[in-house]
Amino acid sequence: MVVPESQDKMYYPPDDLKRDAHVPDFNTYLALYRKSLENPEAFWKEIADEFFWKKPATGPMLQYNFDVTKGTIYVKCMEGAKTNMCYNVLDRLVKERDLGERVAYYWEGNSPDHHMAITYRQLLSQVCRCANVLKQMGVKKGDRVSIYLPMIPELVYTMLACARIGAVHSIVFAGFSSESLCERIVDAQSSVLVTADGVYRGEKLINLKQIADEALKKCRERASSSVTKCLVIKHPAFRTKDGAACNKLQTSWDPGCDVWWDEVMRDSPEECEPEWLDAEDPLFILYTSGSTGKPKGVLHTVGGYLLYTSLTFKYVFDHHHDDVYWCTADIGWITGHSYITYGPLANGATSVLKYKVTKFYTAPTAIRLLMKYGREPLQKYDLSSLRILGTVGEPINPEAWEWYHDAVGQGRCPVVDTYWQTETGGHVLTPLPAATPLKPGSATFPFFGVEPTILNEHGEELEGEGEGYLVFRRPWPGIMRSVYRNHERFEKTYFKKFPGFYVTGDGCRRDKDGYYWMTGRIDDMLNVSGHLMSTAEVEAALTEHPALAEAAVVSRPHKVKGECLYCFVTLKDSREFNHKLVEELKRLVREKIGPIATPDFIQNAPVLPKTRSGKIMRRILRHIARNEKDLGDLSTLADPKVVEELFSKRCEAA
Ligand code: WTA
Repeated sequence: MVVPESQDKMYYPPDDLKRDAHVPDFNTYLALYRKSLENPEAFWKEIADEFFWKKPATGPMLQYNFDVTKGTIYVKCMEGAKTNMCYNVLDRLVKERDLGERVAYYWEGNSPDHHMAITYRQLLSQVCRCANVLKQMGVKKGDRVSIYLPMIPELVYTMLACARIGAVHSIVFAGFSSESLCERIVDAQSSVLVTADGVYRGEKLINLKQIADEALKKCRERASSSVTKCLVIKHPAFRTKDGAACNKLQTSWDPGCDVWWDEVMRDSPEECEPEWLDAEDPLFILYTSGSTGKPKGVLHTVGGYLLYTSLTFKYVFDHHHDDVYWCTADIGWITGHSYITYGPLANGATSVLKYKVTKFYTAPTAIRLLMKYGREPLQKYDLSSLRILGTVGEPINPEAWEWYHDAVGQGRCPVVDTYWQTETGGHVLTPLPAATPLKPGSATFPFFGVEPTILNEHGEELEGEGEGYLVFRRPWPGIMRSVYRNHERFEKTYFKKFPGFYVTGDGCRRDKDGYYWMTGRIDDMLNVSGHLMSTAEVEAALTEHPALAEAAVVSRPHKVKGECLYCFVTLKDSREFNHKLVEELKRLVREKIGPIATPDFIQNAPVLPKTRSGKIMRRILRHIARNEKDLGDLSTLADPKVVEELFSKRCEAA
């Protein structure tokens, strides 16, 4: 790798960002990157030295086997060292660095009445009180606690309280159904469930406690009622201004199991000695969907996850203490775990939901939604404080990238397109904002300690330019350790296909300058007349059309070509779907990719089926394209009504 100079359109880091950046230029990145691969022991030891270890590591920083043919797969980071995550992200800052008065979170609820600033000292005290409550309920080191909460401060208190006493949190996004919640409680065998009475999503009142009750009932019916206590928080939306409860919500109550948060927190002591854990003890489980339907409990451990999330946060967002950082994710997803809770807190960062934000991190789908409304709404706001923009979750089409860069970042803020997974714990391919020249749509280069390579179908490594399976040759501290209670599934899913490598399941192209371009899930690959292409590629071509806000492409069986392209397109407001547009779109794709990629079907899709985290559910679109009425499990779908509408607009013939 050399400093990239290319014929392609490039965006170079702004000078004012370079001035006090942690990694101020590409050569520094390269030097650090080389060190991280050639001498990982020294590299990670230096990072570990910034944290508190009750007992230091005596053995190697990283040990692993990535080769199924040589025995069981494992990754260990600093095994034998003793520490505590909560101590490192709170006590260390408050007691050792005197940062108690720094704001950890500015919290903004749904209504303007609901907002507060929480300092590191306040956070520590709430977390300790909650930790004592959990202990009172009988929760011990290694026990699992399921958390089903909206984005309220108590969610952070509870997860850190678990970390403090060595309990393993399993957060279930509060948009999931009772069935999904039950499935996750049963798999984790949690002894406590933490939830809230209710929450407003927009105007809609959601009775969370009722869903939680249904989930627990289902657990009991399956004879796996591990949960003995349900801790219930009164959501700020259901209190009066002075904090008293107001009953807009009917909450059913089981006195044998249910406990009001307020009642037990009131007298709970503010002191709680952290439980000193092994660096390789579990920190949390987070469920992610698997290709076979049943969600996988991705398991992360204490030490490595601490090192990796704190380091990626510091470098990728080039964190400085006067920053105000806003990540739009929900803590129910990995992005929230790593980049709202653990990574930012480990750096003593201030995170928010508003005001003079300097670093902003969101998903491409949110950007494309914003694009629909044009630049005008943005002009009402002062965006001058912004310095770095980030994206995550799916490939970003160059069109949306440039709009984000120009309209939101006003041409001055680098866009860090961070590629990673629940499984990777933190960013694995990503630009560093002051060091990496950017190409719109590329996640650019690997982060420190990460060694990617691209394989073809036969498992052969591609040199230089090429497209195939993105795999990693060795672990970094933050990678998952197992699928909870199913190590075999872990080995089978990620290590079987190509022995010696962690297989991401994503397709990737490396260009002549060494830049990595994610091309979408391999299972979203399309094979038209023997030509492999990615859904993302076709979607990027389609969305270059000025009338389009978003596009999703799936395959549909075709007699001659094997598969053909079936495209769902969402138009910008005020644009009309007609024959002329369809022809223009076909021409555009033909021009951008080649005749082989010409779509056979283009369907108007006023809304696309998405998960609650904003990912397009292509599986559902495939069924619609094929007119298959049995859609399987729809519980992760944000709005089930869209399915019917899309069926009604189906294209029969080309
Ligand atoms: C996709 C989210 C392209 C990818 C952190 C991956 C991306 C899956 C990007 C993981 C990106 C995530 N460019 N694709 N920058 N980031 N993906 O587990 O397919 O919810 O495998 O973790 O999202 O999704 P997950």
